[in-house]
Amino acid sequence: MSLSTKLETPVTGIYTQPTGLWIDNQWVEAIEKNSFEVINPATEEVICSVSEATDKDVEEAVSAARRAFEGCWRTTTPQQRGIHLTNLAQICEKNIDNLAAIECLESGKSISTAKEEIFAVIGCLRYYGGWADKIEGKTLDINPETLHYTRQEPLGVCGQIIPWNFPMLMLAFKIGPALATGNTVVVKTAEQTPLAALVFADYVKQAGFPPGVLNILSGSGKVAGAAISSHMGIDKVAFTGSTAVGRTIIKAAAMSNLKQVTLELGGKSPNIVFSDADIEQAVSWVNFGIYYNQGQCCCAGSRVYVQESVYDAFIEAFKKRAQAISVRDPFDAKTFQGPQVSQRQFDRIMGYIEEGKKSGATVKAGGKRQESKGYFIQPTIFSNVTADMKIMQEEIFGPVVAVAKFKTEEEVIKMSNDSPYGLAAGVHTKDLNTAIRVSNSLLSGTVWVNCYNMVHHQQPFGGYKQSGIGRELGEAALANYTQTKSVAICLSGALF
Ligand code: NAI
Ligand code: MG
Repeated sequence: MSLSTKLETPVTGIYTQPTGLWIDNQWVEAIEKNSFEVINPATEEVICSVSEATDKDVEEAVSAARRAFEGCWRTTTPQQRGIHLTNLAQICEKNIDNLAAIECLESGKSISTAKEEIFAVIGCLRYYGGWADKIEGKTLDINPETLHYTRQEPLGVCGQIIPWNFPMLMLAFKIGPALATGNTVVVKTAEQTPLAALVFADYVKQAGFPPGVLNILSGSGKVAGAAISSHMGIDKVAFTGSTAVGRTIIKAAAMSNLKQVTLELGGKSPNIVFSDADIEQAVSWVNFGIYYNQGQCCCAGSRVYVQESVYDAFIEAFKKRAQAISVRDPFDAKTFQGPQVSQRQFDRIMGYIEEGKKSGATVKAGGKRQESKGYFIQPTIFSNVTADMKIMQEEIFGPVVAVAKFKTEEEVIKMSNDSPYGLAAGVHTKDLNTAIRVSNSLLSGTVWVNCYNMVHHQQPFGGYKQSGIGRELGEAALANYTQTKSVAICLSGALF
């Protein structure tokens, strides 16, 4: 198959879409010549086909990454690594409309959401470019006869497995800290959304990265993903996706070479509204917390707990807000919610909606598919949801929220923490003491007070409990990509 094709988006026109595998700063065909189709979720039509990596291609990419690590990248000055990363950010900035349009095309997210995402990608790459020359060890004062110090050294070759909900942002979260700290990388994008990352791959060479430092493969989880997680020549695997696959990856890492693992997994995050909150503001944040990106956020505020004295008023206001959401063509600048990413996700979400109806929860808003073509689902609110219902317990990953009533602070903390997940939480109150007390009691990696979804590259992000292992973003992410070397030097030369 050819290594590129001409495609068109309604907002940026015709462009060249690479379709090969990006290995060693070159486009190559998949060794077994496999390919797979990418579907436009707004129209259910095929956009194009791209090369599909198998374990043989993973092997090629890992060899290239190893050569680059040994040959140049580990000795490239930190300052130079930072320059490449900031160059990459700058090229993305020049191409922001194109990247956003391609993401919109392949993922179905609204063009405005896609553009915000690419802005965040640029910020993240620039931020880690800035970190590259600030990775420091320590000197340890142990004995006047000796010199002791530590160095933070790269791990080597990192495998990074990316999901489809924020295809470019998840890529930036992962490559930023890995490359800044001197590792080389083999990325596998999600099978639903390989296209923007392939356009981005062309920027890697332009930004000055040497061949093999950053390799980008399209391919399936079961084949290319599994090859990465069980590879004997990969030193670390980073993954964002389902908790089930997270388990598979950690098992594969354990059974192969005990590569290091970081996981950013699912969630069922509580969003708590106390009676003293600014209700109008709380409705806005709760609405944004669940429906942003079609509800396809690992940190979505999908369990909403409202204090009883404001419950009815809150539900009515929330219903109005949800019903006013524009669910339509993602390329329309005014659209907030586009289609779900795939038929599979659509079916899964509709299954949960049916399950919610059967279990006796009240459909306050939505509850149906929208339009006849495309994977569009109405923003759905279930009220009177009880703790035993599946829609209160399981990650739906769609525009579906479960709302319940609570009486006391103690009760809502218990309800919130009653989950195998612990990714994020929201607290809405005007009382500072309540905000701090409750935030401290919630078992989650992030707490948003009087806001929601405030993910920023300067702030660590990750899960408690089964929501993950390790932290992405901020300074914290650097620790996942470095290992400490201790050096002791005897100054006297004598055995003492
Ligand atoms: P998934 O976990 O299967 O896919 C995420 C990534 O993992 C993709 O790149 C996929 O190719 C890869 N993968 C799949 N199986 C693999 C394996 N055996 N070894 C290595 N890599 C593998 O998620 P899926 O099936 O697309 O969505 C199912 C559910 O997962 C969603 O409904 C949602 O609940 C959750 N999810 C959570 C995400 C998050 O941001 N935490 C992102 C995507 C999905
Ligand atoms: Mg899967």
